Amino acid sequence: MIRFALIIVLLGALPALAQALPGDRYAGHTLARDVCAACHFIESEDMGDSWADAPAFQDVADDPAITAISLRVFLGTWHQNMPNLMLSEAETDDIIAFILSLK
Ligand code: HEC
Repeated sequence: MIRFALIIVLLGALPALAQALPGDRYAGHTLARDVCAACHFIESEDMGDSWADAPAFQDVADDPAITAISLRVFLGTWHQNMPNLMLSEAETDDIIAFILSLK
């Protein structure tokens, strides 16, 4: 967890790289509904923690530390309470575009 936080801090120093958003947020929304909504609240009007202490995507988006890069790192690493989701490159891009569209 500490290592993860460190990576985020280091990557936060490179905001220019966070600008390119190749994903399709509409496809990301559909994917989130199919895959992520089992645990996360994914709609902007859903407030508070969702199931199993998974943060609502709106809360994720509201966190200023959340960028395309930090999301990519998170989704590409292992998490204790979140199953390893096998997302393709394109699916990862789409999900990132969707979550950031909630900002
Ligand atoms: C089986 C339940 C489950 C599913 C399915 C799931 N998550 Fe999670 N997720 C969690 C839990 C629990 C946490 C909080 C604990 C942690 O960070 O591991 C979390 C944390 C996160 C975070 C970190 C938020 C932060 O502020 O650090 C992101 C981003 C995230 N999930 C995205 C996704 C995406 C995108 C999907 C779908 C592709 C998904 N999750 C599917 C349970 C789930």
